[in-house]
Amino acid sequence: MTAPLSPWRLSVAPMMDWTDRHCRFFHRLVTRHTLLYTEMVTTGALLHGDLPRHLDFNPEEHPLALQVGGSEPADLAQAARLARQWGYDEININCGCPSERVQRGAFGACLMAEPQLVRDGVQAMRDVLGNDLPVTVKHRIGIDRIERYDFARDFIGTVAEAGCTVFIVHARNAWLQGLSPKENREIPPLRHALVHQLKRDFPHLTIAINGGITSSDQVAEHLAAVDGVMVGRAAYHEPVVMADWDARFWGDGTLPVVDDAWRLAIEDRMLAYIEAEQAARGTPFAHITRHMLGLWNGQPGARRWRQVWSDHRLKALPVRQVAQQAHAARCGTATLAGA
Ligand SMILES: Cc1cc2nc3c(=O)[nH]c(=O)nc-3n(C[C@H](O)[C@H](O)[C@H](O)COP(=O)(O)O)c2cc1C
Repeated sequence: MTAPLSPWRLSVAPMMDWTDRHCRFFHRLVTRHTLLYTEMVTTGALLHGDLPRHLDFNPEEHPLALQVGGSEPADLAQAARLARQWGYDEININCGCPSERVQRGAFGACLMAEPQLVRDGVQAMRDVLGNDLPVTVKHRIGIDRIERYDFARDFIGTVAEAGCTVFIVHARNAWLQGLSPKENREIPPLRHALVHQLKRDFPHLTIAINGGITSSDQVAEHLAAVDGVMVGRAAYHEPVVMADWDARFWGDGTLPVVDDAWRLAIEDRMLAYIEAEQAARGTPFAHITRHMLGLWNGQPGARRWRQVWSDHRLKALPVRQVAQQAHAARCGTATLAGA
């Protein structure tokens, strides 16, 4: 019998403002099995905020992990209770975000300087959850100019003492001064080999790699060295990248033919989803379609298709009418919606 595949074999990264529930629903249509992550939700928002707004999701999104930002063990424990109550499959602690707002809250990447605190947070969450759902950590390989391998290794070693067995490692440092979060995803150099070394040093832990991975061939190469791969920006901007993941990495079905019919079928299911969302919650369609703008990338007329969906003058129209206009614009036919 072959061993079951690790749930962390392939995932789409948590991305603030991007991987909201609508985006995740869309991604789920492209890949059935890939683990999806929420945007980071702070423990402050979970303790004092509008819980359904932060935590609700569609059942179709499973398997789904909630990512939280926080450092107080008691607050993290409460977040863990909520994650279980809401039906998430995993709770993940963000130890990788370098934004100043997050640093002021003393969590995110600056937690890498306090591995004992992260260990205590994991422990508090595991005390609440037992084996109900896994507690995982996403982190960088270092902070500021600390380039030593031992820094990342000792961080994992300490946090693992509390029973965390899954580490998702963004393979670059976070520079806490002087760079914007965006620059912090581009400027500190990627060091994938360091993450491969972590796996060799912690063979009993699940180590997933993240950062700068843009194609299925690259995913396959990394899977030879680590247990999992997390893809962020490439999945968001070029969702078609995920089209072969179920067949290629999850052993489900045959490789799809990614043609116009494949894209149109996804678009059609999104239109049904948008109508249901509009009926249930009055969600403006642009809140949903903004995540789909990469669907036709690389195809003739893709830019015109995107322009229609991004045209604010159309936002009061029924969504199917806008879809018709986008279709006509992409195909270069002169007809307008309804004509
Ligand atoms: C718009 C955006 C928002 C992000 N927000 C988060 C976040 O909330 N939590 C987190 O751990 N990482 C966040 N990240 C970092 C990604 O999860 C990922 O680590 C990073 O983009 C590197 O992976 P990639 O090169 O595949 O995109 C964000 C990245 C982007 C582009």
